[in-house]
Amino acid sequence: MQQSISSTRLRLRKSRNDIHPTTRRRYNRLIHQHLLASGLFNRNARIAGYLANDGEPSIDLMIQSQHKANRAVYLPALRKQQLSFKPYRFNDRLMNNKFNIPEPIGHQCFSPKYLNIILMPLVGFDEHGNRLGMGGGFYDRTLRFTLRASCKKRPLLIGIAYSQQKVAKLHKQAWDIPLDAVMTEQGLQCFSIKSQSLLRPTTRY
Ligand SMILES: Nc1ncnc2c1ncn2[C@@H]1O[C@H](COP(=O)(O)OP(=O)(O)OP(=O)(O)O)[C@@H](O)[C@H]1O
Ligand SMILES: [Mg+2]
Repeated sequence: MQQSISSTRLRLRKSRNDIHPTTRRRYNRLIHQHLLASGLFNRNARIAGYLANDGEPSIDLMIQSQHKANRAVYLPALRKQQLSFKPYRFNDRLMNNKFNIPEPIGHQCFSPKYLNIILMPLVGFDEHGNRLGMGGGFYDRTLRFTLRASCKKRPLLIGIAYSQQKVAKLHKQAWDIPLDAVMTEQGLQCFSIKSQSLLRPTTRY
């Protein structure tokens, strides 16, 4: 099983990296248009995003449009084995972490409980909203609190991906945190009642 997960990761990462730059720009624009159409930004929500790495879809258009609306977005920053979230405005200074991923340099850090929406990258996803990440377990550990019965308030988890990252079935581990929805260049796919009640449908699958 471990062997097949690693080879699935390698295959999906390669296919994500192999997308032609022109196609990639078109897909990124479509993802942004679908995000706008979903009504995600209409409310005064605290939104976390990410800076694209390893062929992930860039959501810089979202970061720029939030900046124009005078809103910060929050970016993940490594904190021991978990992520905390730092406010970021387009063009703020960044510094690479140990995985060579840029992070905001400010000291202000927020817990994921503070956020309303997390847009998260992924390597693969399936029909049920199971998510395959890069294998570090960082998002899973960070979001573990959402599984507790006592958890009353949690951020909406939206995977950002190219549609080719969808696989038939992922084997879910006990620690894997499922997604509420995935946004691709083809539109929004909702997996939870929470996402259906908060997001407007875009292009249907
Ligand atoms: N809640 C947790 N508590 C302890 N260890 C965890 C937890 N979540 C994940 N891990 C550890 O992290 C390792 C990687 O997990 P997994 O393969 O699910 O990563 P991933 O989902 O691909 O990565 P990421 O969450 O960073 O996107 C697992 O082998 C597991 O040991
Ligand atoms: Mg996982």
